[in-house]
Amino acid sequence: MLQTAGEKVADYLETNRSLLLNNWSSKVIVGATDPYKDVVRLNGSLMLDLVIACSRDLRVDEDSLRHFAQKVAMERIKSNASIGDFIYNVTIGRSEILDHMMRVDLPMDALHPVWHTINGTFDTFLYFAVHHYTDINNRKIAEQSSFIEQSHKDKLTILGQMSSSFVHEFRNPLTSVIGFVQLLQEKYPTLEYLDVMSKELNELRFRINQFLLVSKRGDDHKERSDFEMDRVVDETLEFLYPMIVSARVTITLDVDDSIHLRGYPDEIRQVLINIIMNSLDALSACKEKQITINAHTHPGQVILSISNNGPPIPPHMMQTIFEPFVTSKELGTGIGLYLCRKIVLRHNGAIECESNDDVTTFRITLPNT
Ligand SMILES: Nc1ncnc2c1ncn2[C@@H]1O[C@H](COP(=O)(O)OP(=O)(O)O)[C@@H](O)[C@H]1O
Ligand SMILES: [Mg+2]
Repeated sequence: MLQTAGEKVADYLETNRSLLLNNWSSKVIVGATDPYKDVVRLNGSLMLDLVIACSRDLRVDEDSLRHFAQKVAMERIKSNASIGDFIYNVTIGRSEILDHMMRVDLPMDALHPVWHTINGTFDTFLYFAVHHYTDINNRKIAEQSSFIEQSHKDKLTILGQMSSSFVHEFRNPLTSVIGFVQLLQEKYPTLEYLDVMSKELNELRFRINQFLLVSKRGDDHKERSDFEMDRVVDETLEFLYPMIVSARVTITLDVDDSIHLRGYPDEIRQVLINIIMNSLDALSACKEKQITINAHTHPGQVILSISNNGPPIPPHMMQTIFEPFVTSKELGTGIGLYLCRKIVLRHNGAIECESNDDVTTFRITLPNT
């Protein structure tokens, strides 16, 4: 009976099976502690079966290759093997088989289609194996990092809760100390150091309120109210007056007097304070220091903008200035703008920033009532 070239190669490989597998096994790289090290030779033998079948039929059997590749990839993952070693082992198996094939007594042009099919079988196997291996590995990495992220978040939440209840406990004694200092100031208006104490205590109260607003503890039992924008702006400037004077900054105001808002006026004041204090910081090294505050009503919305002529915010920071803990200052906390955005969002508004060489503007849009 006349044999095809594929059948001749298949028979030859079958006859030389042990020699082939021995040669190959002596060269493969397998870790001494690889839990699948005894399976490696068996896998080589299974691969040889697939190669023999494919050369007999001159057909690449994709389905069998996919299943086999998935099994091997899973074993390589479980034994923590390097994908490089795995590819090396497959490749020397391919060379071993192709070398043997060349010894079959057939002309080159008859061998060529068989050579082509065997190569196709190896390529397909490697494709599925590496694909599967990387898929499983990526999934493993994603699971690990989401676990780390979650436990990190849990720790941050606990830390946040602990510190906010701790700070909350400061508030009552602080309020009474501030009250007593005020009483002392009224009783002894010329007594030294009271003004310094009062300033420092107010600063501490400001920080505590800022912190509690971030940690949500400040929300307790608060009700929304109707208020007017120009009042809030005036109160803010009054509060910041000493800082503005000592920084020698000119403030230009253009605020409509008919702007009615609904929400939490103390929070909107906090937003203004944070943005103006940042502007004062930004202007510290400038000659001509200017801050402009505009607030106008538009149909359905109010636009409040606060600008200064300080140095621009570097482009790489623009994306992150509203994120918590982003700061360029040595003693900065990086929570000012984070808090501003939080408050504005709570008022169903939006906040954005634009900055160029001439001017930096924070623009807040709030719904009009
Ligand atoms: N008006 C401004 N001009 C220039 N940079 C600003 C201005 N406002 C904010 N920034 C930048 O945004 C950062 C974050 O501000 P903020 O959240 O208030 O935190 P902090 O003031 O504690 O640094 C600042 O450190 C600064 O780099
Ligand atoms: Mg700030």
